[in-house]
This record gives sequence, structure tokens and C-alpha cells, in this order.
Amino acid sequence: MHIDPKQFEHIQKEAATELAHIVTREDLERLRLKYFGRKEGVLTGALRSLKDLSEEEKKTVGHAVHTVKLYLEEALAKKERALIEAELHDQQRKEKIDVTAPGKKIPAGHLHPLTQLIDKACDIFIAMGFAVVEGPEVETERHNFDALNVPKDHPARDMQDTFWLDPAVAGPGMLLRTQTSSVQIRYMETHEPPFRIIAPGRVFRSEATDATHEAQFYQIEGLMVGKDVSLANAKAVLEVFFQRLLANKKISIRFRPSYFPFTEPSVEMDVTCFKCFGKKCAVCKRTGWLEVAGAGMVHPKVLENVGIDAREWQGFAFGAAPDRIAMTRYGIDDIRLMYGGDMRFLKQF
Ligand code: DAH
Repeated sequence: MHIDPKQFEHIQKEAATELAHIVTREDLERLRLKYFGRKEGVLTGALRSLKDLSEEEKKTVGHAVHTVKLYLEEALAKKERALIEAELHDQQRKEKIDVTAPGKKIPAGHLHPLTQLIDKACDIFIAMGFAVVEGPEVETERHNFDALNVPKDHPARDMQDTFWLDPAVAGPGMLLRTQTSSVQIRYMETHEPPFRIIAPGRVFRSEATDATHEAQFYQIEGLMVGKDVSLANAKAVLEVFFQRLLANKKISIRFRPSYFPFTEPSVEMDVTCFKCFGKKCAVCKRTGWLEVAGAGMVHPKVLENVGIDAREWQGFAFGAAPDRIAMTRYGIDDIRLMYGGDMRFLKQF
């Protein structure tokens, strides 16, 4: 066997040309295999065949092969470093953050119209010295009815009006509260008078729903108890409340005699129609007034039920209907829209 050492110069030249054209690491790897691949590598083969040569040739050819091998190893390594660097550079360029580019707009949501109204109501009452308290939506019969002096045979307790919970699951006498008045009881049970509170929250009634009835809606309960708190105070507080809520000083309120088991005397409360401001329109059924709350002086029996001496303490309570206020204010003609979660509706507020 005879190998011409000169052929390795040729191999080196060829490899150098090939290398100069390479732009990817995959191609570089292919080139490495072409020369150094275990089975078919050109130089691997040459090195392997050295053993078959004469001593004399081993020296000359061996020298030539090793020269190419060293050269090529170094050239490949250099090229690899260059390619890695170029890749990194490329990546960095792509990832570069342009701090002057306009930001992506994230559409901001907003609070539900009812939540907005209730938040505003809380702010106004807080400014008048009222504390905002909450009670559970799942209530006991005692807090929702008995302690509020609602008699056993009162129609409100009927299955048609109240969502009773399955006694096997929830225990006896549990229900979804039908009124936030239950929070009056909870608060008075655990606090000493005098106090001023409001309790906004959701209530539930087993209603057939239509444009003005929902099986769930909101109430804002109010309670103020002191040594000489009277119905006149109720009128003043509620009048200021509505004037501030509707941002109109001309708003006034009026009381009409009514009946609630937990107040004596009891009144229905009307507010100047805030659609026509007293001019009489379709919304207020041409009366100039809107009915927005029930109120009254806390019944002595209710005070006694929570251990408060009714000869020493007295006060007023009220229950307002924020759904109705929001609907009139915003011209919403169907209460079901308030609870439907339809974005086309909600986006308007
Ligand atoms: N709880 C009554 C209802 O749901 C509203 C109400 C009326 C609350 C008079 C009161 C009140 O606190 O004094 O119809």
C-alpha cells in the first residue's frame, strides 16, 4: 500500500473551502463527520491505514495526516465558537426591548352598577357616622323571622316566599335570608347601644321572575339606636342620604303609614322622583314620588328579643331597595338585566 503524503495538502485545502461556506451548526457537524466520523471520516480512515504502511511511509504520511488533523480540529472549533456567538447575538437582537414602543392596552373592567351604587351609599352613611356591617346570606329562622317579631303564621315564612334549606343537610330552620333586617338582630345581639349601622347585602325570595321581580336582589338595611332617636332623625338622615346619592339638594322624602312586624310605627318611604324631579312622569306613575324604602321605629319587642331595655333605648330602622334606585337612576327597565352578566349591558355603566 502506498499513500502520497501530498494528497493531504489537497484535503486540507478542500476542507478549508468547505468550512468557509458553512453558516449553520448542523452543516458544521456534517463537515466534522465527513473528516472525523468514526466509520467514514476521511482522516479517521487515513489514520487507521497508517498501520499498513512501511516504517518510512508511516513517518511522512503520518506527519501529513496529523498536520491536517490538527489544522482541521482547530478550524472547526473556531468556526463553532463563531457560529454560537452569532446565534447569541441574533437572539439578543430579537429580544431587545424597545422601551419607547407604545404599551399593549389591557382593557380595564369596572364595578357593576349596583356595586357602584352600594359603595357610594356606604360612603355617604360612613360620613354620617354609620358603621357598615355584614351578615350571612344563609340565615336561621330566628334571625330572619322570630327575633324580628314576624309571627309563625306570617305569609313571608311560606314556602312560596322563602328558600328553605334542606333540614337533612343544613339542620332545622335554615333559609336564604329574605331581608337584611336579620343583620339588625345579629348586630344588636353582640353590641351595646347606642349604635348606627347600615348593612348592605343580597336577599332571596322564591319569586316567579319578571321585569320587576328577581329571586335575588339587594337591600341596604339601616339601624340607629340611642336614648332619644326619633322618626324625625330617620327622616333627616334619609333625606340627606338621598340628596347626596343623587347629587341634588331638592330631593325630599315623605313617609306614608304602613306596617312591618318589626317596627312601630311603620312607614313606606317615598323620594322625589329622580326621573322627572317631581314633574310627574311615567316612571313615578304620575305621582312625582318613588317608593324606595320601608322604615319605622324599632318595635320594643325586637329590642327585648335581643336583650335591650326598650324603656331606655329607642331607634329607627329602614330597608332600602338599591336595585330599584339603580334602575330608575340609569333607566334600566328589567331587573333581570342586573343579574344576567351580559357584557353588552354592563359595559354601559
Ligand atoms: N325588611 C323589609 C322588607 O324586606 C324592609 C324594611 C322595612 C326594613 C322597614 C326595615 C324597616 O328595617 O324598618 O320588606
